[in-house]
Amino acid sequence: MEGDGLARLPRHVAIIMDGNGRWAKQRELPRHAGHKAGVGSVRSSVEESVRHGVEVLTLFAFSSENWKRPQKEVSLLMDLFMVALQREVKRLKRNNVRLRIIGDRSAFSDKLQQRIAQAETDTDQCNGMLLQIAANYGGRWDITRATRRLAERVAAGGLHPDQIDESAIAAELSFAGLPDPDLFIRTGGEQRISNFILWQCAYTELYFTDTYWPDFDADAYSEALDFYAGRQRRFGMTGEQVEETGSTGRPG
Ligand code: FPP
Repeated sequence: MEGDGLARLPRHVAIIMDGNGRWAKQRELPRHAGHKAGVGSVRSSVEESVRHGVEVLTLFAFSSENWKRPQKEVSLLMDLFMVALQREVKRLKRNNVRLRIIGDRSAFSDKLQQRIAQAETDTDQCNGMLLQIAANYGGRWDITRATRRLAERVAAGGLHPDQIDESAIAAELSFAGLPDPDLFIRTGGEQRISNFILWQCAYTELYFTDTYWPDFDADAYSEALDFYAGRQRRFGMTGEQVEETGSTGRPG
């Protein structure tokens, strides 16, 4: 029942998993211990999303800018991705979750690229939730790549500039064919988007929490979903229109 225009359950949740380093520092542990502990929260947020009936969960694991971190941390993170990809596939399949990695994977080692491709193949028959891991991803990278592809199509004569509209651009982005994220969560206390979902966040509800990512458990996730359930989505309409028509105003 959406007669009051309240949002209820997000179809697509996107999360910036921040605060691993500070979680570790609090415990006088190396930063890497925070990333390792963060894998547990990845697992729980996937399972909770499945349990609640979320259709798409997108996690920002490594940004295009994270290469600037100390080389040792980057290399330990890559090792962690390798291990997690191998270990988690069984659990994903059990939960009927399809895995997809978005971002420029060409910068990863051949071995990691193969592991990514294998994990995607292993889960490609799953038709429950879609888990997208954004790795070496940046919103600007995505928009730039889409623009280049459109320019190439124009140059090749297959597309007229007049045909470039919002849907033509959206169709070239990594998120093509998916509903835009309804709920964006950032843990760790910072209140910014950090070059994550730029095109897609036009009407996304933004939720920030001070909780560090390794502490973001099922209860913390439920709080975020409760926040979302109380939002009235209007997509440019007035609150009265939404209430009168009983629509959330979502286009399409
Ligand atoms: C940001 O915290 C976190 C990251 C850059 C890495 C996220 C990676 C994981 C949670 C590991 C597992 C992921 C998958 C998908 C298997 P930060 O290091 O910036 O924390 P800080 O702001 O407290 O320093």
